[in-house]
Amino acid sequence: MDREIRVHCITRCITRQSKYGVHSNEHLNHTTPFKPSFIPFGRDEMALYVVSPTSYINPPRNIFSSTLSHLLRLPIKTISMGIDSADAQTVVCAPGVKGDKVTRLSREGLTDFILSNISKTQELKDPFYVLDLGTVVSHMNKWTQSLHNVHPFYAVKCNPHPALLGALAALGASFDCASMAEIEAVLALKVPAGRIVFANPCKPEAHIKYAASAGVNLTTFDSVEEVEKIKRWHPECALLLRIKPPDDGEARCPLGPKYGALPEEVVPLLQAAQAARLTVAGVSFHVGSGVANTSAYRGAIAAARAVFDTATRLGMPRMHILNIGGGFSVVGSQFDEAAVTINAAINTYFDEELPARLEVISEPGRFFAETSFTLVTNIIGKRVRGNLREYWINDGIYGSMNCILYDHATVTATPLACTSNAANPTCLGAKTYRSTVFGPTCDALDTVLTEYQLPEMQVNDWLVFPDMGAYTAAAGSNFNGFKTSTIPTHIVITPATTGKQNV
Ligand SMILES: Cc1ncc(COP(=O)(O)O)c(C=O)c1O
Repeated sequence: MDREIRVHCITRCITRQSKYGVHSNEHLNHTTPFKPSFIPFGRDEMALYVVSPTSYINPPRNIFSSTLSHLLRLPIKTISMGIDSADAQTVVCAPGVKGDKVTRLSREGLTDFILSNISKTQELKDPFYVLDLGTVVSHMNKWTQSLHNVHPFYAVKCNPHPALLGALAALGASFDCASMAEIEAVLALKVPAGRIVFANPCKPEAHIKYAASAGVNLTTFDSVEEVEKIKRWHPECALLLRIKPPDDGEARCPLGPKYGALPEEVVPLLQAAQAARLTVAGVSFHVGSGVANTSAYRGAIAAARAVFDTATRLGMPRMHILNIGGGFSVVGSQFDEAAVTINAAINTYFDEELPARLEVISEPGRFFAETSFTLVTNIIGKRVRGNLREYWINDGIYGSMNCILYDHATVTATPLACTSNAANPTCLGAKTYRSTVFGPTCDALDTVLTEYQLPEMQVNDWLVFPDMGAYTAAAGSNFNGFKTSTIPTHIVITPATTGKQNV
């Protein structure tokens, strides 16, 4: 019997032999190019085996594999199949990317690509994005190297571009969706529902019903009212109790004021779920988007541990998922510091569960999206007032630069004076002037840059904004009739930096 269970599990895992790990909707009758003799048959080796490519997420477990291992009381083990998924071909062929033109570039090739694109679309002069899939791969490699026991569920809200979602899916990521539309966007890319966490603690009933019909069986909650809604519309759904971390880590966008159970609310909420016969599979938190002080993760992980213990005291089934949320930035050393803190805190507070009885997941948004997108805008107007140069561009606060208001972002721009200075479009060595850059709408609030140094530019020159992937296009509008919610994206792929680590 034991042996049967194990072979059964192995078969499920191996059928896809893929970046996707185990999925609840996989069928057992797929071909299994796996030799069971690879697996030692001693009783000590009883495990749920999950296939892992060599070069990224370790282990690529998902909710299904975690739940299955929990039910069968088997540890999860990872088998390296030697598939190098973090290569260009993987992302280029991913759903959401395949069918689009993808231009291969050298690492230095971006400016030339932008220039050539501008020259091809001279007539329109519309703004456009460039998505570099090589950067996405590099970020996945970095994640794997530093947080290899933490499975990323990319937060779709940050930037739902299908090519980004598809590339991340191909690289083994799962997804954090906040709404029905986000779930639909992920499922449209053939990502199994088992790779989605519906990580919105307060969901419209219609969206809960949709999640039930789509097989999205993991969600977050932080109120008794949410327990009642889930009980009514999706009683099979497993829950993560979202707690308010003790510290918001000086986050750019703190989330604590809106979400997360307070310590004194934990027992009543767990009891409400217990009374409703809902499964509470674990705990989630978010220390705030763009945290500066990464020690906030430690406090939050300690608080999560306390909730695990409380659930045990209440006689609830053992929790097995720890969701450490988002907040990561790939810029500077923030991510490296966060990873050290998180790894140490998990070892300290969850050493008993590791590695087999705990699945650690996270919901990074900014980390993957921010530096993967570059925005290119056209200068549509100019005014000179003494020493001050004022420019109008065709994207602004009501479009991509809404991040200045909502995400408290600071944007930067570099010149591409391809109309007025074709011999030196990047204006290397040119004299600069104090400049203001406005967006296109008639609102004075629509101001993108002030007190900024730029060379003398002219109408029809261009400004390039790097690192514009996080919380930009996702919240653009069509205010004043400027269609900044639908700016086209050109896809390129530069060679990825490694950060690879074998399983
Ligand atoms: C529930 C949840 N998860 C994940 C994220 C992504 O956060 P970040 O982009 O800081 O990683 C957010 C952002 O608001 C969020 O609300």
